[in-house]
Amino acid sequence: MNSLTAKKTAIANQQFHNDSVFPHVIQCQDANCDLETATEWIQSQSRELLTLATAHGAVLLRDFPVTSAENFDSMVTALGLPNFPYEQSLSNAVRVNRTERVFSANEAPPEVQIFFHHEMAQTPLFPRWIFFSCEVAAEQGGATPICRSDILLEKLRDSCPDFIEACEQKGLRYTNIMPSNNDANSGMGRSWKSTLGVEDQEAAEKRLRDLGYRWEWMKDGCLKAMTPTLPAVATLADGRDVFFNQLIAAFRGWKDERNDPSKSICHGDGAPLDTHGVSTAAALSEELAFDLMWQAGDIVLIDNRVTMHARRPFIGTRKVLASLASMERNEFTPTNPQRPD
Ligand code: FE2
Repeated sequence: MNSLTAKKTAIANQQFHNDSVFPHVIQCQDANCDLETATEWIQSQSRELLTLATAHGAVLLRDFPVTSAENFDSMVTALGLPNFPYEQSLSNAVRVNRTERVFSANEAPPEVQIFFHHEMAQTPLFPRWIFFSCEVAAEQGGATPICRSDILLEKLRDSCPDFIEACEQKGLRYTNIMPSNNDANSGMGRSWKSTLGVEDQEAAEKRLRDLGYRWEWMKDGCLKAMTPTLPAVATLADGRDVFFNQLIAAFRGWKDERNDPSKSICHGDGAPLDTHGVSTAAALSEELAFDLMWQAGDIVLIDNRVTMHARRPFIGTRKVLASLASMERNEFTPTNPQRPD
């Protein structure tokens, strides 16, 4: 077995939060390293890498021999986690599978900004882990900003405590209108058939009922669906609280010919969100953003409970691949059980 030398390294604009660096960066030191050696290294370091991703929020692996979706699939497989197939998700973005575990990142047009979110935190099922790899870096722009949600929550508790209290006690409900066929011009254009993994309205209604959604069929065949109450704040196993939701993306970015962002999200009791609180969350997440400027071959390992991600607009061709692992249930528990849902 060939050995591989990889070292912790520093990159521009890295952040420091308490004892942790964000993102944690590991660089492969062997210019001639082959894929087999790299995957053996990932397999042997899996537990350590995932522990680092949880502690720091994200681990960037740079200069590893990853040149294709198949290579990325091998590296992700070597981590030894259960795959979360995109077709089983309730996400509303259109994706294209490249291998069993690897699919394109959001296929929205280049000029569309995708705002900060935790992957699938707006649905009852979410992946604990999200991995990205860069196949082709954009000519201009196209960074993947990442933001530590535990740090964001600390700042929000200081600046808008009433808003965070309402979020914790009442949770969030998300509403979106899904087309009957995929709409490639929208960042949320996945059809209801694909989203729910069904062929007809009857099967769609059964799936929605099982998941606790409310719904309404539109005249044009679109489906308006409202999630059950989902959390806005979650507590991790290590005790850290995180701002775990899609509030910023929903309020700022869920806009297309069917959807109006102002109607996309409310509290669990139907009350509107405090717009000052939402604006403050969006502004603080931008202040805390680390813009990951892609180099071809980069891989980033993100603990989706800890760190949000987004996408900057870009010019040129940009191919960023994604892979999800470890499906978990997203359940709301109010901090004050006296209050009705
Ligand atoms: Fe995403």
